[in-house]
Amino acid sequence: MKLFDVYNLFQIEPVKAQGCYLWDRNGTVYLDFYGGHAVISIGHSHPYYTHALSKQLHRLGFYSNSVINHLQTELAEKLGQMSGYANYQLFLCNSGAEANENALKLASFQNGRKKIVAFRGSFHGRTSAAVAATDNPTIRAPLNNTHEVIFLPLNDRVAIEHTLLQQDICAVIIEGIQGVGGVHVPEKGFLQFIRELCTKTKTFFILDEVQSGYGRSGKFFAHQYANIQPDLITVAKGMGNGFPIGGVLIHPNIKPMIGILGTTFGGNHLACAAGLAVLNVIEKEDLINNAKRIGDYLMKNLKSFNHKVAEVRGIGLMIGLEFPFPCADLRKELLNKHKIFTGSSSNKNTIRLLPPLSITQKEADIFLNALDQVLKKY
Ligand SMILES: Cc1ncc(COP(=O)(O)O)c(C=O)c1O
Repeated sequence: MKLFDVYNLFQIEPVKAQGCYLWDRNGTVYLDFYGGHAVISIGHSHPYYTHALSKQLHRLGFYSNSVINHLQTELAEKLGQMSGYANYQLFLCNSGAEANENALKLASFQNGRKKIVAFRGSFHGRTSAAVAATDNPTIRAPLNNTHEVIFLPLNDRVAIEHTLLQQDICAVIIEGIQGVGGVHVPEKGFLQFIRELCTKTKTFFILDEVQSGYGRSGKFFAHQYANIQPDLITVAKGMGNGFPIGGVLIHPNIKPMIGILGTTFGGNHLACAAGLAVLNVIEKEDLINNAKRIGDYLMKNLKSFNHKVAEVRGIGLMIGLEFPFPCADLRKELLNKHKIFTGSSSNKNTIRLLPPLSITQKEADIFLNALDQVLKKY
């Protein structure tokens, strides 16, 4: 059998990783400024994490959600305490798309409405409602177009006010920082304005923190810079440092009903062990403050490339670098010559930097020097 060919591959096969580095079959070492798409939060193969997972695997890897699993409660408590959402409830699933799908479903169950407001440039995943709320028609099948989604420009207060006051909207879904779209940070005032409008119109406010959450922005959640509290917050990527796990943080006013949501694999023992290990390492190694510190250092230095870089966007370790030219060749050169992984975005002029939260200043300097070298040609 052949693989279903849907990915654009780099001709590199990592076989080993440690901290912020990856090794291929030939022993060539790569610096990871991509984090496997913002997934690697605490660094590759962290010893505390690998120990916690192997210990749990030897004890009990999986049992269904029909029995008590104290690891789920422990994870919910730790996540509540570290994120500042101790009074919220947690539903566990396996991926970012699933987290958004469940959040949208929950909103619709609650207010009985169907229409979703999402934003231009958004990416929320590839399942039914999540992909319908994703601003990319090429990944939506006709089947997905049965959802009613209104796409509005980011930071456009007039448009959101008009839409929410004129129509019965089920939920507004927005990324904490738009990732795939090329790292666009929503204005604080815009998030506060949506919060007020949603409260006024009984619309659910969903913050997709799948990419921007878990400390990447220098706060646990990017939306916390705006001092707002959404009704639903979705998480995945950095939550398991590579082990598939996602979740929805749910406002205490939303009451659960037996059977309303469910999953076979979500919240299994091994996933919870991974989730707990990640939070313990983030706390112990002060990785959220590290993300802010190294993020600020990178931003400051990247801005000094002013004539070669059109714009530097982002917060913490979620950085978008927009060039005045398409940057596929620049990314290739960073990878093939300087052995540094970076991320692309749907905007062909923008690369994304999403390194592990444990990155050091020394590694930031390696990247800055390599970029300086590559940019000499442009
Ligand atoms: C903001 C955001 N939401 C949702 C998703 C979907 O997550 P997953 O691929 O785990 O389904 C992604 C993935 O890139 C994302 O960046």
